[in-house]
This record gives sequence, C-alpha cells and structure tokens, in this order.
Amino acid sequence: MDDSRQVRVPAPVLTPAEMEERLALMRKFPTAMDLRARARRLMPNFAFEYMDGGAGIDGGIKRNWAALDAVELVPRYGKVIAPPPADTMLFGRAYSAPVGIAPIGGPGTAFPGAETYFARAAQAARVPYTLGVLSGITVEDAAKIAPDVLWYQLYRFSNNDHKIGMDLVDRAQRSGVHVLVLTIDTPARTVRSREVKSGIVNPFKLTMRLRLDAMTSPHWLSSLAKNGIPRFVSLNPYMPPNTSLADSAAFVRREQGGAFTWEEVEKYRARWKGPLVLKGVLHPADAEKAVSLGVDGLFVTNHGGRQIEALPTSIDALPAIKAAVGNKATLILDSGIRSGIDVARAIACGADAAFAGKSFLWSLGALGPKGPGHLINVYTDDVRATLGQLGCKTVEELHGVTVRHPGAWKMSDFG
Ligand SMILES: Cc1cc2nc3c(=O)[nH]c(=O)nc-3n(C[C@H](O)[C@H](O)[C@H](O)COP(=O)(O)O)c2cc1C
Repeated sequence: MDDSRQVRVPAPVLTPAEMEERLALMRKFPTAMDLRARARRLMPNFAFEYMDGGAGIDGGIKRNWAALDAVELVPRYGKVIAPPPADTMLFGRAYSAPVGIAPIGGPGTAFPGAETYFARAAQAARVPYTLGVLSGITVEDAAKIAPDVLWYQLYRFSNNDHKIGMDLVDRAQRSGVHVLVLTIDTPARTVRSREVKSGIVNPFKLTMRLRLDAMTSPHWLSSLAKNGIPRFVSLNPYMPPNTSLADSAAFVRREQGGAFTWEEVEKYRARWKGPLVLKGVLHPADAEKAVSLGVDGLFVTNHGGRQIEALPTSIDALPAIKAAVGNKATLILDSGIRSGIDVARAIACGADAAFAGKSFLWSLGALGPKGPGHLINVYTDDVRATLGQLGCKTVEELHGVTVRHPGAWKMSDFG
C-alpha cells in the first residue's frame, strides 16, 4: 500500500492563450461521453469499432457502466475546505491525479501515432501512462517522451524460456520505466464482433474496404500520413531485418499467447527490480496468491468488457479483493471509467487509483493529439470537484467516505 503523504505535483504554467483553449475545450467537451460522440462522427467506422467495441454484444461494457453508476457516495457537510488537490502517491512516486492511461495494444489502428500522443499528454500532466508491448513506439522512445510517468505492460512471450519476455523486461528496466504490468486475463482469444464486422484484418492492412472507410475521415488520414502504418516496433530486434507486416503478425502469433502461470509470475518477480503489478485479477484468492509471490499491485479489471461478457465488473469485485489483500497491495481499478466521479467511486470502494482505456482513445478520435491532455483535465477537475462535494481534503480521505454499493461481491460469494 502506498505512502499517503500529500506531495504536491506542480501544475503546468499555462499562457493566457493555452488557458483560453483549455476553457474552450471544457465548454465544448465537458465529459468523456462528449468525446465519444465526436469520435464516432469523425473516425472511420473501423477505427471507432476497434476503440469502442467489446466482446459479444457489448454486455460487459454495459454492465461496467451500470455497476459504476449504481455506486453512491455520501457527503459530509459543515466544514470549510479549500479546493482539494488530486495529487496521489503510487508506488512511492507522486502523480498529479489518481488517474492513468491503461495499456492499449495496437492503438495506432484506432488513431495513428496514439502512443506518442498519450506519452506526451501523460508526461505534461504527470499521470501514469502504461505503454502496451504491442505498440508502435519502442519502450526506449516512450521513456524519452515520458521519463517520469511511464509504466510498461507485457503479454506472455514464453518461447525459449521467456527469452523475448525477459529481454523486454531488461529493456524496460534500462529505460527507467516506473512500474511493470503483467497481463494475466487473456488466456483465450475471444471475439469482438464489432471489430470483426468492421473489416479490420490482422496484420493491419489498408484493404480496399478500409481505404474507402478511411477516405471518410481526413482527421484519421492526416495522422496516418504523419505516423505511418502501425507496427509493433518493440519486437523488431527479435525478427529478421525488413520483416514484412504479414510476417511480423505471424511472428507475434507464434511467440505470444496464453496467460502467465504463477511460476512464471515468480520468474518475472525475480527479474524485475521495480514495482510489479498483475493485471486482470477478479478473484480474492488470485489476489492473495499474487501478493504472496511478492507482487506489489493489482489491476482489478475485466479488460474493459473485451474478453467475455460474463466476467464480474471490476467495481463489484473490488471490495472483496481489498478485503483479501488489505494494505499489502496497491489496487488499480479499470473497466468502465468515464468520469472523475467514477474514479472517486473506485477509490471509495477500495482502489488507490483508476485507469481508463477506451475513453482515452475516444479523446484522440475526437480531438487528435490534444485529446488525451483534455481528458486528463476533465478527469482531474472532476475528481477535485467530487472531493470538495464530499468534504474530503485529499484523495486519501475518499477511503473513509460512506458508500452504498449494491452490486458488491461478498467474500462468501466466492465459495
Ligand atoms: C483497443 C484496446 C486495446 C487493448 N489492448 C490491451 C493490451 O494490449 N494489453 C492489456 O493489458 N490491456 C489491453 N486493453 C485493456 C485496457 O488496458 C483496459 O483494461 C480497459 O480498456 C479498461 O476499460 P475501459 O476501456 O472501459 O476504460 C485494451 C483495451 C482497448 C480498448
């Protein structure tokens, strides 16, 4: 569990023109859902379906939203408090808000150049950015853009005794990455029907159908012209030089797959010297097991409803996981976050911070490179307003707020 000392992260100093632009964006797009609506209008259909679709008929996404909406927070009045800061310590480092960007594989399909824009916005605002291993920039380059806030997410590359996986860990370590995240919740490949129907092919290729679709979006095309077709460049050193897009996709299919076993988690624990987080935990017994192996934090998540629709919502699983691990692990919640109020709900239910995936892609789809910074502002301002309304002077005080959480799993539900 994190040190709760309040360390203030200095706010960036804005010029009057930047301040005016910030206010104008707040007036036009005050919520994540406003960004989603604009992204739907501006993006090619396939890009929007990739960023927005879930497993099956989106049942998991709908339940994530409904479960968060159902959580009520009870305010306490009768004291004067200054506008509270949103600063948050995570794994010994001060961030400006309890909000982060979750790992997204192949975000360049949704918006070419996404990784660079995320990294810049996160560094400027001092919030965590989790670069996914399946990304269009290398961990070394991401660390140059976001030296203070970079986290790195790894899938399982287990061939030859994890040669590639371990090398990626070493590269992340050398690059100064703050936190390593191992994703364990994709043991099977599942179907995201909207993505399939949109015509996206793997490896990404501008087929005639996608070209015609892309022609409807100058916004997407101009980012493609600037950034090129997305490739998984962190994996280049492990492939023969000049490997084609098709061959590199075949390489990823051969080398990456399955979910980390507990023995493998132990190996990565031994190799990685910094904070280690396991992403995908929904059962308290898995949470306890992870902590017993020396894992420092858990992402409580159902992968944003993108794996199968029947998984518990992360907000409903969270209290039992908190009860199981107590203060022995930092808890990050994701899946369904669309506002700073959702972030506050997550913290009041036991998390230390909340991350978002889809809404950061919507922000790019709506506003291009300016989108992620704007969304961070929306979430941060909203967290601060929520703290003030509830009578909390700090993010830490959210842990003491009275909560009504009708969908929460109880320990006894887990049998
Ligand atoms: C397009 C897309 C790609 C994703 N790729 C990855 C990935 O490569 N690794 C991973 O651990 N999670 C991945 N996720 C899941 C996110 O990290 C996160 O758990 C999820 O998006 C949170 O839910 P939200 O989208 O409702 O905010 C992906 C999510 C999206 C939307």
